[in-house]
Amino acid sequence: MGKFGKGDSSWFTHDRFGMFIHWGIYSMHARGEWQGVIENMSDEQYHNYFKYFNPDLFDAKIWAKAAREAGMKYVVFTVKHHEGFCMYDSKFTDYKSTTACGRDLLREVVDAFRAEGLRIGLYYSLIDWHHPHFEIDVNHPYRERDDREELNKTRNMDIYRQYMKDQIREILTNYGDIDIGWFDFSYPHVPYNPKGREEWDSEGLIKLIRSLRPDIMLNNRLDLPGEGDITTPEQNTPEDPIYDDNGNVAVWEGCQTFGGSWGYKRDEYTWKSEKQCVDMLINHVSRGGNLLMNVGPTSRGFLDDRALTGLGYFAKWMKYCSRSIYGCGIAPEEFPEPRDCRYTYNPETKRLYLHVMNWPCMYLILPNMAGKIAYAQLLHDGSEVPFKESHPSFLHDHLAVHAPKGSVILTLPVKKPDITVPVVELILND
Ligand code: GLC
Repeated sequence: MGKFGKGDSSWFTHDRFGMFIHWGIYSMHARGEWQGVIENMSDEQYHNYFKYFNPDLFDAKIWAKAAREAGMKYVVFTVKHHEGFCMYDSKFTDYKSTTACGRDLLREVVDAFRAEGLRIGLYYSLIDWHHPHFEIDVNHPYRERDDREELNKTRNMDIYRQYMKDQIREILTNYGDIDIGWFDFSYPHVPYNPKGREEWDSEGLIKLIRSLRPDIMLNNRLDLPGEGDITTPEQNTPEDPIYDDNGNVAVWEGCQTFGGSWGYKRDEYTWKSEKQCVDMLINHVSRGGNLLMNVGPTSRGFLDDRALTGLGYFAKWMKYCSRSIYGCGIAPEEFPEPRDCRYTYNPETKRLYLHVMNWPCMYLILPNMAGKIAYAQLLHDGSEVPFKESHPSFLHDHLAVHAPKGSVILTLPVKKPDITVPVVELILND
């Protein structure tokens, strides 16, 4: 339990699957969300994006519907990314969507996603390239300028810290129930003007957040060990569960992209395949984690075909297999995973889900399962899967399937069923 309270993780570890949305005026240059720094852009250069931002094709209802159909149960939306542009109507700046295009984009997102039954999470960047009092550091577009020290003399982080608090109060009070606070990020060990708990006043921020919303789920990027409810690996899928300092499985959420970039990237050619996407979801849940899958909408406000196709991969699979995801997590140790398979387990229904990542030839051997299975079926079509504890041949010994003692042999259809990753639902004996 953190010093300043703890969020309600019960819904979070049940729902397992959310949509990350990285949308800002960086979608104009269409080269990802870090380009301001990568190209050392000046405020003047960046101003074009603010001036010409026109999300005329934005309809949050379309996004929300696509998320719901993909099986996602919550959304995390970038209210402000590192560029500092606010996607909502803030009293504390003019660098916001209501000034740029006359729309409170956050309001539209929140309303549409709630209407589809999804919970709401807000991403707020601690880094701010636009705020005149944010001290220039290694993650700032002016980091290589000769006059950076000179510029920093006029910058006062006290003012910036107050700005963050004012904005966080705004977004947590003006937009209804917010279920997740996602703060990004700390770098206390870099050589030039590191930032962490002191520079952000992380304690002050957490106290403020919990005073406004005691149950909110908080991520762990505020550099305050022991605080934060969600561990957030990024762009990698942990092989094993993640444990906290007390050796308990941590609540964790891997955030992932379809291509390599979070913000819209037009010239992106590294899109993940259908199989990779579905595998990723299974791999997260089987290790006790959630998957937060990102989309980066275009500057005109639509999800391009690649993003919609990617969401469709999940929709197709989740329509038939979501029972192995919702309410599920790591399987008990007494069920060792067979070759090329992943288990998930639902502790409420006590059902075990066998995800066959690589389709075998007819027989699949489940170690240590003898006497434990009451019934087995393919999850997507509810068709029975016959099983035996050993498989002697009636004709010739050499046709017998050899399986170690204590195991069960499933007889699967020779042809892989027409679903990205087939799942066998194992109903266990009481
Ligand atoms: C990193 C990046 C950022 C992205 C985030 C998602 O912290 O700076 O662009 O929003 O990861 O986890």
